[in-house]
Amino acid sequence: MSDWPRRPRLVVGNWKMNKTPTECAALAAAIRREVGDAPRARVAVCPPFPALTAVRTALDGSPILLGAQNLHPEAAGAFTGEVSGAMLSSCGCVLVLVGHSERRHGMGESDALVARKLRAALRERLSPVVCVGETLDERERDLTREVLTRQIAAAFGGLAREPARQCVIAYEPVWAIGTGRVATRDQAAEAHRVIREALGGSLSGESGGQIPVLYGGSVTPQNIGDLVSAEEVDGVLVGGASLEAASFSRIVAAA
Ligand code: PGA
Repeated sequence: MSDWPRRPRLVVGNWKMNKTPTECAALAAAIRREVGDAPRARVAVCPPFPALTAVRTALDGSPILLGAQNLHPEAAGAFTGEVSGAMLSSCGCVLVLVGHSERRHGMGESDALVARKLRAALRERLSPVVCVGETLDERERDLTREVLTRQIAAAFGGLAREPARQCVIAYEPVWAIGTGRVATRDQAAEAHRVIREALGGSLSGESGGQIPVLYGGSVTPQNIGDLVSAEEVDGVLVGGASLEAASFSRIVAAA
């Protein structure tokens, strides 16, 4: 993909493990209708694997991009139950979530595995949306900066300038995901500055500055305006509120 421009903003819907392929296609068609042909923000949706093809068909000819929620670091082989980046590309995906906290904390994904997945995505010309974020315990122990810096360094350390420009980062404080407890504008802005600083340390300043940094965690039509009023916030990753066309399209309109 070509570089993500800093503006318009990017809004990504993460449908997680919800809906059948038929239901996903209907949701995609409804989002397409509500968002229209020329949304102000760049928009992507990440359905579960079995629905990718149906959603691609529903979005055919629309500017809404298709993404996936995960990939395996290897290109092919004896990895029962896994899905490769090449498979995702062939389904029409242009981006893929990497290291979502539900995978880091629920499925034991390490920083090292996230780094391998990021590189696997880039090999297939998929834009990885690399998710980072601290737990509540880490925030309360004042470890947010340390955790974000470690996660960014592990994922991006040693990455060449050109591929880095294809990446997106999502700051998703674990305590805000699916909890209804959203980060304040200032908390998001501060974390995004830490992420940019860490990127600067891992990549050349120039390429680091071009990577969009999204906020994710309990984003709704009600709080989107406040969040994107921070210039550090380049867009949002939306879970629950992306499962209904009306709320998702209101977020897109406000982004
Ligand atoms: P949420 O999920 O919007 O439901 O909090 C965000 C995410 O997990 O990406």
